[in-house]
Amino acid sequence: MGSVPQIPYYNQNIFPETENAVKDHLIIFDTTLRDGEQSPGASMTKEEKVRIARQLERMRVDVIEAGFPAASNGDFEAVKAVADCIKDSTVCGLARATEADIKRAGEALKGANSGRIHTFIATSPIHMEKKLRMSPEQVVEQAVKAVKWAHRYTGNVEFSPEDAGRSDVTFLCRVLEAVIEAGATTLNIPDTVGYTMPEQFGNLIRTLRERIPNSDKVVFSVHCHNDLGLAVANSLSAVMNGARQVECTINGLGERAGNAALEEIVMAVRTRQDFFPCDTHIDATHIVSASKLVSGITGFPVQPNKAIVGANAFAHESGIHQDGVLKHRETYEIMRAEDVGWGANKLLLGKHSGRNAFRSRLAELGIALGSEEALNTTFMRFKELADKKHDIFDEDLYALVSDETMTLQEQYKLLSLTAHSETGETPHAKIVIAEGGKELQAESDGSGPVDATFRAIEKILASGADLQLYSVNNITSGTDSQGEVTVRLQKSGRIVNGHGADTDIVVASAKAYLSALNKLHSKLKQAHPQV
Ligand code: KIV
Ligand code: ZN
Repeated sequence: MGSVPQIPYYNQNIFPETENAVKDHLIIFDTTLRDGEQSPGASMTKEEKVRIARQLERMRVDVIEAGFPAASNGDFEAVKAVADCIKDSTVCGLARATEADIKRAGEALKGANSGRIHTFIATSPIHMEKKLRMSPEQVVEQAVKAVKWAHRYTGNVEFSPEDAGRSDVTFLCRVLEAVIEAGATTLNIPDTVGYTMPEQFGNLIRTLRERIPNSDKVVFSVHCHNDLGLAVANSLSAVMNGARQVECTINGLGERAGNAALEEIVMAVRTRQDFFPCDTHIDATHIVSASKLVSGITGFPVQPNKAIVGANAFAHESGIHQDGVLKHRETYEIMRAEDVGWGANKLLLGKHSGRNAFRSRLAELGIALGSEEALNTTFMRFKELADKKHDIFDEDLYALVSDETMTLQEQYKLLSLTAHSETGETPHAKIVIAEGGKELQAESDGSGPVDATFRAIEKILASGADLQLYSVNNITSGTDSQGEVTVRLQKSGRIVNGHGADTDIVVASAKAYLSALNKLHSKLKQAHPQV
């Protein structure tokens, strides 16, 4: 048997030719706030987007795609708010290849330190013919015009030929050469429907770089969807073939099966520095908190066996593995849990913590509550929580603030809830809610206390919404942890997710149900960029 390696396995170079190579910068373009938000039920408020954007900035994400400003006034305001507060990352707005969309994106990005407009038009035969009803000539012309319009607002212009994975390569070369000539600085190649295979997608990137005469003037980017579970593999194959920007999302959130997961791209490239000719500037120690933040805000739980950010990603259950890890960590671990932020949720506050400690921890977490009054009410709720729960972690604070910002915008508020369940008895709930200035109450039986609570709410509000998903997760560990409940409701073709957190999961459930009803009540329909 050979001797035990003295340096971590992942730092040993098994490809010595990359040893002294100067590494390129791999640009990380996060689209959680745009493509991620296109997941049904994942829509976020302006405040939630700002909170996630700050976390992405803290992680040193290079480009944050903050939304699609032409979708609705709400989207415009959210992109503007992100552009106004983010200083270190470039903030990007998506626009279809129309003058009106591009103008809207340009206006939303006015306050950005560094802004980018990302414009796109489809280039595959099926999209051009069936969706756009445009000829290939018209598409080239529109793409060139779009890039020139974007240049009125910024020199940082990204162009995407939508559905590139199913486009004709010769036609792609023609469009892309023309948009480079028009001033595009990044060419993003999307596998919009997640159709390509890793080798094929890598070859596509290499072919485009080789065949487009002015390709050396731009950065090649990729944007892969996960319909066949290949988004990360396709993106990495593209990187090996010269792509130097990857578009990705936290937890792989995104349209349908999602996008390439940021945490997997970053850690694959970092762990296999012996293999990749580039590296990112990401501070990976913020990955786990970013994952928790996005999961908490969207209500999309992270599966336990998810790479990097799943609860079991670094847990060794089997005896053989545990024994190996105890004897020598690198027998079964290729990354260190702490390098991606596991264990960083240190105990921070308790019931004796004062207002200043509370305020400064929120500031460290990048949470701005907006006013002294909001700080005071959130601090009071923190004290109530600290009475029930001994140790307060960062995750508890995120949940508390998320609850508080939702409460401020609510039409329906929970005032009180009594739920009763006992072996052999029918569960029963009594609820009092406020709607505007009125107090309304109802009671109901149910198959369990949560069911009884939801029935009581429906007796008052008669929303007629269809419950599509109900899930409970504990925010931290231990039975005194807050339960975080997600409720997904559908009504008239609209899907919304509501969430609520409390140490009592029946109360958390009531909050989540009301939060979903508040969203159904308030949110205007957004335009979808690709439809
Ligand atoms: O998947 C896709 O093609 C997109 C584009 C807008 C880049 O999201
Ligand atoms: Zn996409």
